[in-house]
Amino acid sequence: MKKPSILVAPAIFPETIARLEQHFEVTHNQAGASWSRQELIAKLQGKDGAFTTGSERIDAEVLAACPQLKICANMAVGFNNFDVPAMTAAGVLGTNTPDVLTETTADFGFALLLAAARRMTESEHYLRAGKWGKWSYDLFAGAEVNGTTLGILGMGRIGQGIARRGALGFGMKVIYHNRSRLDAATEAACQARYVDKQTLLRESDHLVLVLPYTPESHHTIGEAELAQMKPGAILVNVARGGIVDDAALARALRDRRIAGAGLDVFEGEPQLHPDLLTVPNVVLTPHIASATVRTRRAMAELAADNLIDFLLQGRPRTPLNPEVLEKRA
Ligand code: GLV
Repeated sequence: MKKPSILVAPAIFPETIARLEQHFEVTHNQAGASWSRQELIAKLQGKDGAFTTGSERIDAEVLAACPQLKICANMAVGFNNFDVPAMTAAGVLGTNTPDVLTETTADFGFALLLAAARRMTESEHYLRAGKWGKWSYDLFAGAEVNGTTLGILGMGRIGQGIARRGALGFGMKVIYHNRSRLDAATEAACQARYVDKQTLLRESDHLVLVLPYTPESHHTIGEAELAQMKPGAILVNVARGGIVDDAALARALRDRRIAGAGLDVFEGEPQLHPDLLTVPNVVLTPHIASATVRTRRAMAELAADNLIDFLLQGRPRTPLNPEVLEKRA
């Protein structure tokens, strides 16, 4: 029997390609070429499945141009690159990679908070530039983290991981806001208290963003929200670019209306708002919150599992639009 055909859009672990080749005719991109939308559509012709990342936008136009496509397996927990209703209408399954990256991403969110609060990259640049002459009582004195109030906006699995780290590891008082309030047992495990968004902005000594990016969450943090935050606050974004108005944030950082920020994601990445590159009080990383070797392997394996389990047995592990499965049954 002819094997199903798939496209692996990103360069990925060679072992993952080898595993996929046992089951599929695989077209890969191990050279890591950046494809235009038209090139992606051309590569998807005749493919039953696609292994994607957040960089490949799958919408009605792509779906209409690729009628054979049955599944897009994202190697990411976020899936704002998928137009899920359009996929469902076209009978195309979407899958993501939840759970396997939760703790690793929570570690990184906390690392960004500590790095920005304690001015780690700023002071390292100073040291590398040979500017360190003598010890001084106020040299890179930063913001306290332990024992302060940690605010979390978006209290899914990763938000809960950050809450536990703050409460149990750093003795922080944790407050959160989310579309829906957590059940009492989960709140107790995270030692977190539900508050409205205004209270979160006003009372957090530091604020971590972990909410999904949707049209509703675009610029959730802009000029007005930044104005409500404490002047000593650190803002951390490990969610998605576009949730923060980066131009407004750069102004707030420059004018020291908040103390600092730690950002792993950006509007229009891999491009950055140029002003973010010139303000010193921000720690910038290139969308690597889930990037440990173990976690990235687990994500790649889960995306591959989804392709194999769906295209060979009709039972994906982590479907985003299971309605498609019902329709096919
Ligand atoms: C990374 O940003 C992810 O969504 O997994």
